[in-house]
Amino acid sequence: MFTIWFTGLSGAGKTTLSRKLHDELVRRGLKSEWLDGDVVRANLSQGLTYSKQDRDINVLRIGFVSHLLNRNDVISVVGAIAPYEETRQKNRKLLGRYVEVFLQCSKEKLIERDCKGLYKKALCGEIKNFTGISDPYESPVAPEITIKTDCVSEAEALTAVIRYLEDNSFIP
Ligand code: PPS
Ligand code: MG
Repeated sequence: MFTIWFTGLSGAGKTTLSRKLHDELVRRGLKSEWLDGDVVRANLSQGLTYSKQDRDINVLRIGFVSHLLNRNDVISVVGAIAPYEETRQKNRKLLGRYVEVFLQCSKEKLIERDCKGLYKKALCGEIKNFTGISDPYESPVAPEITIKTDCVSEAEALTAVIRYLEDNSFIP
């Protein structure tokens, strides 16, 4: 089994793509679980802030749960920012079979889209420590897959991920 982790800035497409991939895996009869940053933070990581320390705790928690899932033959599909390379590397080491998908999108596009209105708030200082604006995002050093979500459609992105998983025998 394996973990596939969608990392990227807020609004880059992590939730949409990870959920769609999870749905497709289930449709194919594979055992899969979906762990989204917002959902994890509303439950398992309730009360954690967006400080570096708390983000690391959150990201390592998701890694640990993924480890338990994988151990029980369940694919873990994660969509969480995971802004720090060192912390992502720790999960990579723990998990072994780990696919990192970097969803790359220009800040201009993210600010223009601003689906949740968070960039507007971050830019006027209403939200502190906002990833990409007032908090760091370390781009992945060696992701298995990079997708420019400001250039390709959702369907194309999903197809690229599924093709990678098939070509590398992660899924039949
Ligand atoms: S992390 O860094 O991996 O622990 O973040 P994650 O668990 O993925 O949570 C990201 C979602 O939290 C909301 N949000 C913020 N994101 C970044 N920075 C700040 N300060 C912040 N405050 C709230 C936001 O809805 C993120 O969801 P996405 O899906 O990324 O937009
Ligand atoms: Mg999301």
